[in-house]
Amino acid sequence: MRRIMTAAVLGLLCVGGAANARGEGPEGIIKGRQAAMMLSGVAMGAMKSAIDAGQPPASHRFNTRALARWAHAVPGMFPAGTGAEVGVQTNARAEIWSDRPGFEEKAAAYAAAADRLAELAAGEDAAAFAAQWTVVRSSCQSCHDVYKAG
Ligand code: HEC
Repeated sequence: MRRIMTAAVLGLLCVGGAANARGEGPEGIIKGRQAAMMLSGVAMGAMKSAIDAGQPPASHRFNTRALARWAHAVPGMFPAGTGAEVGVQTNARAEIWSDRPGFEEKAAAYAAAADRLAELAAGEDAAAFAAQWTVVRSSCQSCHDVYKAG
């Protein structure tokens, strides 16, 4: 019995160690979502430069598709158990889990705004595209104001 217990404890320690070394589990989710958030900032910045340079909406197709896909994935990247309790750096506030409907509403507004931006990238109305970029930008801010620390 004791041998089985020891083996089980050792097994758990190995799983824990492997998870940390390879960035799996909750730590991996936190790092993955932080990287994707940064990349969404990169995509937004690239689009802004292109808008300011007078590029046509069609030049934004790949960026807008990527952004819309990520926007729909956001709630799933904040599962329970990936907050400050994990012990790695995160700016995710506890309200994400204590006020889940509110968080999902912000994520849904972001996804809808990003979907619309992708639709406009398929058309030719540069002014409408630029205006929608601002709507998307506000949806980022609106979530950060409540659910992101710092
Ligand atoms: C539904 C909520 C929500 C929306 C919408 C949202 N974010 Fe975030 N964002 C967060 C949270 C929460 C964090 C903190 C994540 C963490 O540290 O674990 C974050 C972190 C970030 C970070 C910092 C990443 C790091 O660790 O350095 C950047 C940059 C960022 N978001 C950009 C954006 C941009 C750009 C948009 C819109 C295009 C956006 N976010 C939309 C909630 C959101």
